[in-house]
Amino acid sequence: MQIHVFENAAQVGQAAATLIAAQVLSKPNAVLGLATGSTPIPAYQELIRLCKAGVVDFSQVRSYNLDEYCNIPEDHEQSYRTFMNVNLFNHINIDIANTHVPNGNAADAEAESAAYDAAIAAAGGIDVQVLGIGRNGHIGFNEPGDSFIYGCHQVTLAQSTIEANRRFFESEADVPRQAISLGIGSIMNARKVLLLATGADKAQAIRDSVHGDINPQVQASILRNHPDVIFLLDKAAAGLL
Ligand code: PGA
Repeated sequence: MQIHVFENAAQVGQAAATLIAAQVLSKPNAVLGLATGSTPIPAYQELIRLCKAGVVDFSQVRSYNLDEYCNIPEDHEQSYRTFMNVNLFNHINIDIANTHVPNGNAADAEAESAAYDAAIAAAGGIDVQVLGIGRNGHIGFNEPGDSFIYGCHQVTLAQSTIEANRRFFESEADVPRQAISLGIGSIMNARKVLLLATGADKAQAIRDSVHGDINPQVQASILRNHPDVIFLLDKAAAGLL
């Protein structure tokens, strides 16, 4: 595991974008595993800048997002499909048909999950997986629990996650209770993993992930078993290391 600590969130974003851009430059049809949340936004802004400057060409890139809420319309302003379109895809030359987000409204969530994992495998697997981390150590929507769940699956959000995401909705009652998320095995299968964390409210989760036991109560701790994982942290998130 590599850990890089930067002065601020903007630098974390630039470092992440640099690594993603390097991947696309070396493999123009790279498969990117992408994340939502506030943490990766500076990285996406830097990728937009690099694309507009003609440095990185996304025309052949394929992408698979980590997760999507269940039971809100795909075009809802808080859906993760909307987030990705607004914060990245609408501003780069990626073919929108090559971008994938789980279908949170599938009638059969189990079948949707299996199909999503199969589609990633058919694309050749994920070259670079971008991750944020929850204050409870979740990655994707893999919440603290008794086990690591291997494949893509439907999850019930932890109360702390509902509270953390409440700021994006009119009321807590409007926050979706379920989501479809890549599983830990699907994430661990990525050839490279970049975990981004900024802000003091992530410091304990980062400490537990790096120094605690590898255990499903802190889902990100499993990343220590990944052969190529890089943590990109600002000083505040690294404050308890
Ligand atoms: P955040 O979310 O980037 O908005 O903090 C990260 C996460 O919950 O995985």
